[in-house]
Amino acid sequence: MEFDFNINQIFTNRITKFDKRIKQFNTNRREPTQQKDPACIVIDKLGIASSKAQGLRIPVTSTSKLKDSDHRIYLLKDEQNQNLGAAIGFLKIGYKSLFVYDNDEIIHELTPMCILDFYIHESRQRQGFGKELFDHMLQDTRLLPCQLAIDKPSFKFSSFLKKHYNLVHSIPQTNNFVIYRGFFSEKKKDI
Ligand code: ACO
Repeated sequence: MEFDFNINQIFTNRITKFDKRIKQFNTNRREPTQQKDPACIVIDKLGIASSKAQGLRIPVTSTSKLKDSDHRIYLLKDEQNQNLGAAIGFLKIGYKSLFVYDNDEIIHELTPMCILDFYIHESRQRQGFGKELFDHMLQDTRLLPCQLAIDKPSFKFSSFLKKHYNLVHSIPQTNNFVIYRGFFSEKKKDI
């Protein structure tokens, strides 16, 4: 996804992490009107593209929602792309309080880390960028893939989880979240 400003000047790292501390507007004293921060323009545009890719009416991800949450967004850029760079995609995670069934159909009230939104631009899919982003998040959170709960994974995402992390055997739930075998055995003390 390309923009008419230089992505490389906005995101210094290949993967940048954002949370509620994101600055939504530039406060330039010389200009009376507030200008939306370029990083927010990028995230909001990716959020809209993600919702379209998933057939959702309203974006799940936007910077205004991020400001009111404890969610985290990891954004992946392409630093090359004719010097201006490009946004490749993002991954959004956050803790959710859930009632989760185990294999014996016993219900537990837990607050696992959840995958809430995941999008790689159409022109970049199936080239390993999703895996790069997901691996970065795993390293950052120090979680195993099976410790995560996934909010209504799409067909592509389910296929991704199977291919890269061997997540196949889900434990039936009554909500939209999907958890996989290993969720309870690998459950961290702090979830
Ligand atoms: N059809 C089927 N499987 C796919 C497809 C596709 N069109 N695209 C990616 N995958 C899966 C496959 O397992 C694929 O392996 P293969 O090419 O050998 O079949 C694997 O992902 C490729 O891995 P990456 O290249 O690392 O993944 P990618 O960069 O494509 O990112 C993602 C995966 C994020 C799911 C991407 O395809 C995407 O943005 N899809 C559209 C939006 C979406 O469905 N997001 C998830 C919504 S659910 C949620 O966020 C909780």
